[in-house]
Amino acid sequence: MRIVSGIQPTGNLHLGNFLGAIKQWVNLQSDGECYFFLADLHAITTRSNPKELRNNCQEMAASLIACGVDHTKSVLFNQARVPYHAELSWILQCTARVGWLNRMVQFKEKGANSEGESVGLYSYPVLQAADILLYHATHVPVGDDQQQHLQLTKDIANKFNNEYGKVFTIPVPKLVDNGTRVMSLQDGTRKMSKSDENDMSRINLVDDADTITKKLKRAKSDTELLPDNLEELCARPEALNLLTIYAAITNSDMDSALTLFSGKGYGVLKPAVAEVLVETFRPIKKTFDEIKNDNQITEILQDGADRAAMVAKPTIEQVFSVIGLDR
Ligand code: TYM
Repeated sequence: MRIVSGIQPTGNLHLGNFLGAIKQWVNLQSDGECYFFLADLHAITTRSNPKELRNNCQEMAASLIACGVDHTKSVLFNQARVPYHAELSWILQCTARVGWLNRMVQFKEKGANSEGESVGLYSYPVLQAADILLYHATHVPVGDDQQQHLQLTKDIANKFNNEYGKVFTIPVPKLVDNGTRVMSLQDGTRKMSKSDENDMSRINLVDDADTITKKLKRAKSDTELLPDNLEELCARPEALNLLTIYAAITNSDMDSALTLFSGKGYGVLKPAVAEVLVETFRPIKKTFDEIKNDNQITEILQDGADRAAMVAKPTIEQVFSVIGLDR
């Protein structure tokens, strides 16, 4: 298995990132060759401040390491250090069709005022395809919100392969059983996201025990007791979200979580969820605080980039060659 995935260094790593992607990354490290990167080129598709961007990269790398991404097992780097991502992205922009990008839901969601958004925000999924195809990824562990981008990656790879011969490997998404879509604590129908202005909507990796407990206490809920079956649970988004989080964080499944909490109220469920979150994040936050200003992180990212570039270079050379671009 060749496993490739990325995360944008914007804001803090949150529970959605952790359960949708990072927990899988950590577990996959013993199953195959892993390439994990900070998608810093993606982060500039919306306006960013240079000092903040550098700081976010350092902190996101520290967060990943604190979660268990091990640079001696995986290749950990930031996109900007490997020029082939941007190069391949241009080539693939000439393969992808405007109609395909027009169908991307994330742009529609983010680009409410699409005329005023950057072209980069619109073509962003093509850069994501380049990230994946450069490394001949076989598996791409991501949360549910990235599925459409992975389908686009396959479409681009197939079209390119049909036109120029088989150059790219077709990747498969890799999803966990539950926790692939963690919802806002304030609205069970909206995704937990770093761009939500209300910090009470998410649990951040850096939140301390009191903050986590407070956020759970104030999480949106209803007055009913918890049901004993999935069908009824699915009609109650906030209850479903809290049980999903509980099951994912304790490595159990929905049936066991339902058995544990059916007939009980939020007065029992919320403190139970808070407790498992505090216990999971406590050691991670401790490590994060210790390493977040460590200069060694730059070396780790540069070393990762050198290793990544060695794998990416033959791909980009083959791509230029089959197209007929000499250099
Ligand atoms: P990003 O930075 O938005 O999120 C990183 C990972 O976290 C997952 N995720 C969630 N999972 C479950 N519930 C949520 N509420 C939630 N929010 C975020 C995302 O699915 C993702 O796996 N475009 C990507 C970064 C990227 C990438 C790539 C990923 C760039 N190139 C190549 C894979 C392969 C993004 O913006 O993720």
